[in-house]
Amino acid sequence: MPAMSRPLISRRAEPLTGRAKVPGDKSISHRALMFGALAVGESRIEGLLEGDDVLRTAAAMRALGAEVEKQEDGSWRLWGRGVGGLMEPADLLDLGNSGTGARLMMGLVATHPFTTFFTGDASLRSRPMKRVSEPLSRMGAKFVTREGGRLPAAVVGTTNPVPITYELPVASAQVKSAILLAGLNTPGETTVIEREATRDHTELMLRHFGANVTTTVREDGARVVTVTGFPELTGRTVIVPADPSSAAFPLVAALVVPGSTVTLAGIGMNPLRTGLFQTLREMGADIRTDNPRIEGGEEVADLVVTSSALRGVDVPAERAPSMIDEYPILAVAASFAAGTTRMFGLSELRVKESDRFTATMNGLKACGVEVEAEGDTLIVHGKGSPPPGGATIAVNLDHRIAMSFLVMGMAAAQPVAVDDAEAVDTSFPGFVELMNGLGAVIENN
Ligand code: S3P
Repeated sequence: MPAMSRPLISRRAEPLTGRAKVPGDKSISHRALMFGALAVGESRIEGLLEGDDVLRTAAAMRALGAEVEKQEDGSWRLWGRGVGGLMEPADLLDLGNSGTGARLMMGLVATHPFTTFFTGDASLRSRPMKRVSEPLSRMGAKFVTREGGRLPAAVVGTTNPVPITYELPVASAQVKSAILLAGLNTPGETTVIEREATRDHTELMLRHFGANVTTTVREDGARVVTVTGFPELTGRTVIVPADPSSAAFPLVAALVVPGSTVTLAGIGMNPLRTGLFQTLREMGADIRTDNPRIEGGEEVADLVVTSSALRGVDVPAERAPSMIDEYPILAVAASFAAGTTRMFGLSELRVKESDRFTATMNGLKACGVEVEAEGDTLIVHGKGSPPPGGATIAVNLDHRIAMSFLVMGMAAAQPVAVDDAEAVDTSFPGFVELMNGLGAVIENN
């Protein structure tokens, strides 16, 4: 836990211009470390996100017996233990702010015959874990948790794992992945059924490492994902694309700061992650896709973004899984748009690094934006002109809330401050330097 807070203020910027490379994808970085630790032999990771969340996963994989080290050329080298070969960690695993790290790792250790203790920061310790402990218990693991299934928690791994077929009650790639990872060290076939498609980095990367993972689409549209137990995973190279969820911040900044044109290089374009780009285009955003290509099994492209007059739109609930982390920054964009933006189906926003539904609504209100909630729908009434701004936003350990409101400050009438931007380092180290390099004015406050 950082001892000191880092208050920042973001002032109205001149046009943003230039080319930037945002850090590596957080979801893919966590998985690359975990799967490299499970593979036999050496793996290499290029472009790993070196944010606090991912470094915690690297440390946890070391504690579970893998060799994980950064190379002089900036890549990371792993020497894995083989499926089923993880070792009991000698101490608590502290996953910091990371729900992905904690939940996926709970799946990994659930089918190893030892006990693992998990904890995290105040944000992670407040987040629901029953969504993973419930299915993993069906596979034979036992959990001792705090009230409401929260961390700290002990996972007593099973010696006799039972394969399950599990239909996800919430659209969550983390829950899907936890079960599939538990299924690796389980005999037979472990199946997850998802009514709404969530990001499929686990499936794509497990195949890359040599696992048998199949995805079929049921008649009703549900996706049926099956992993066959005890695969021989072998060391591989993983190239991590730039994170589309991080690109979202400079991208929206370029849209709302008049006269801007910014190029964002090598952005991950996995179709299950690009809901924000689609929505912004529907709002009238000028986002050009250049040089589309496949790198390390994932679609990537360069995005050229030019400031645009935006208009309000309806964002359907079905799109939520493909842009679940992008609603705070979309709501900021919507507050500059002409007309009303209605974002449906946002219940999951309440259980992220903070209650993002409330944080987004309160932050916008403090900045003078007309905003309302109807159940799980967030409604932003844009005036087609810069909102007043002039507020200080409470971040509550939520990196995306901090970055969203710093972007707001770049184009609002008055500066916008955040009380503590320390959390930004969990997913986007170098955010302030990158944004200021494009022309933003973010300063210590
Ligand atoms: C993630 C899945 C999403 C997302 C999180 C990363 C992942 O969470 O919000 O930032 O890497 O699988 P849920 O799966 O819980 O929606």
